[in-house]
Amino acid sequence: MNLKIALLPGDGIGPEVIAQAVKCLQAVEETFNHQISCTEAHVGAIAIDRTGDPLPERTLQLCKNSDAILFGAIGAPRYDNDPAAKVRPEQGLLKLRKELGLFTNIRPIKVFPSLLKKSPLKEEIISGADFTIYRELTGGIYFGEKKISADGTKASDLCEYSEKEINRIAHLAFKAAKARRRKLTLVDKANVLESSRLWRKVVTRVGESYPDVLLEYLFVDNAAMQIIVNPNQFDVILTENMFGDILSDEASVIGGSIGLLASASIGDKSALFEPIHGSFPQAKDKDIANPIAAILSAAMLLEHFGLKEEAKAIETAVDKALRKNIVTIDLDADSKYGTNHVGDFIANNIVDSDDNFNINDENIGLGKSTII
Ligand code: IPM
Ligand code: MN
Repeated sequence: MNLKIALLPGDGIGPEVIAQAVKCLQAVEETFNHQISCTEAHVGAIAIDRTGDPLPERTLQLCKNSDAILFGAIGAPRYDNDPAAKVRPEQGLLKLRKELGLFTNIRPIKVFPSLLKKSPLKEEIISGADFTIYRELTGGIYFGEKKISADGTKASDLCEYSEKEINRIAHLAFKAAKARRRKLTLVDKANVLESSRLWRKVVTRVGESYPDVLLEYLFVDNAAMQIIVNPNQFDVILTENMFGDILSDEASVIGGSIGLLASASIGDKSALFEPIHGSFPQAKDKDIANPIAAILSAAMLLEHFGLKEEAKAIETAVDKALRKNIVTIDLDADSKYGTNHVGDFIANNIVDSDDNFNINDENIGLGKSTII
C-alpha cells in the first residue's frame, strides 16, 4: 500500500515520541513491503514561534493532501500561565480538528497483563478492563461562542450540540459496540443540561437501529466514579467533547500510565492519530518520555487502512517490550532505558520478532550493559 502521512510532532516531547513511531512505521514498511512517505510540518507553540500562527496554512494544506496525520503533542508552559495570551498552541489542534471535520475521537483503554501491578488501582479491580471511549470532538463547549465582558469580570462558554452532530458519532459508536461486547454507555448530565437531554433523545433513537446493542445511560459524575470502582462494566462509552476529555485522562490510570494511550480522530475525509498525553515540557529532550502511546497511535493508523497484520506486529512488539520491562521511567522508576532505546527495541522486534536487540538481562541487572 502507498500511504502519504503528514507528521506533526508539535511541542514538548512530541518530536521525540513521534520519532519512535516513525521508526516503527519504517519497520512495517520494510517488513510488509509498503510505501509510507512522511512529510513534516509545524503545529502549536513551535509554529507560533516560526510563523505567528499555531496552524500555518502550509500545515493545514499538507494535512488535507495526506492520507492520514500522525500528531505528537501540543502546548507550552509560557502559554498555560498567561491567561491574556491572544494566540495559544491549543488553537492549532482545535482548528485542525474543526477544519478536517474530525468529529469522532476514539480512545481505547486496555490493561496489559504485564502492567497490572503498575496501576495505582487494585489489580482485582482493573484486571480484564477493556473499553473504548467515543468522544465527540468538534462540538460542545470547546467550540461554542466564547464571551468576556468589556471590563473582563464576566465570561462564558456556550455548550451547543445539534442532532446531526450527535447522530453521526452515535452510529459509529453503536457499530463499534456491535463488533465488541455489544454494550454502549451514554455518559451525560441529562439531569441538569439541556444539551445532554438532546444527546439522550438522539442516541436512544439511533439505538433502535442496533437492537442487539444494550444501551445504558450514566451521569458523568457517577461515570467518573464507576470507571475507577468497576471499569470492567464498560464496553463502549459515548460522550460529548469535554466529558470525554476528562474521563479519558482519568481512565488512563487503569493502564498504569497515560504514556500508553493512543487515539484516533476520524472524520468523513481525514483521520488523525495521536497519543492522548500532553506535551510534558518538563521531560522534553531528556530521553525519558514514554514513546508507546505514539507508537500505538501509528498502529491505529495502520489498522484504519485495513492493515491488521501490520498493526498487530506493532502491538506484539510493544507487548514484548512491556513484558521484558524495556520501558521508560514512568513505568519503572529504576529503568535504565530511555525513549530512544524503547523505540529501537520495538522497531527491531517488528522486523524480527525474535530480536532481543542486544538485551543481556544479566548485564543490565548488574548495570554493566554497554547499551544503557
Ligand atoms: C486532548 C487534549 C486537547 C483537548 C487539548 C490539547 C486542546 O487535552 O486531546 O485530550 O482538550 O482536547
Ligand atoms: Mn485531554
